[in-house]
Amino acid sequence: MTKILMVCLGNICRSPLAEGILQFKVDESKVQVDSAGMDNYHEGELPDERSIQVADENLIDITNQRARLFEITDFKEYDIIYAMDNHVLNKLLELAPSKEAKEKVKLILDEVFPDEELDVPDPYYDSIYAFRNVYKMLDEACDIIIQKLD
Ligand code: 4NP
Repeated sequence: MTKILMVCLGNICRSPLAEGILQFKVDESKVQVDSAGMDNYHEGELPDERSIQVADENLIDITNQRARLFEITDFKEYDIIYAMDNHVLNKLLELAPSKEAKEKVKLILDEVFPDEELDVPDPYYDSIYAFRNVYKMLDEACDIIIQKLD
């Protein structure tokens, strides 16, 4: 079993989509996906309604998800921890208690554009089109993540 954690700031826009897309594409008995946020503003909430809509347009239901805060124990629990942007990446690297923990942390778009250090842009103050753009980026990244897992 490979366990993958998707992390953004609020755990309501980007990482719930990343979780939903990857979990939809993999065999649940082999890969387990979760998501978390670096701040607790939205703890316990459903994903943003625009993320729910865009997932739904792609026949993925993410309404089972509730926002939660990233915990230090996640470094032990998960094999790979994907940050949605550089801000989150740097926060995770700061929190990582060991070299082994640091090595689990990756920037998700590095899977598509290695070493370009690109962010999945925060769509929270943007329109539904920004959410569709986020979906496309994450869908592409998830396809590459799956190829690497095989
Ligand atoms: P996320 O988006 O990190 O993709 O979930 C955000 C959600 C909420 C806020 C910022 C980003 N906020 O400031 O409340």
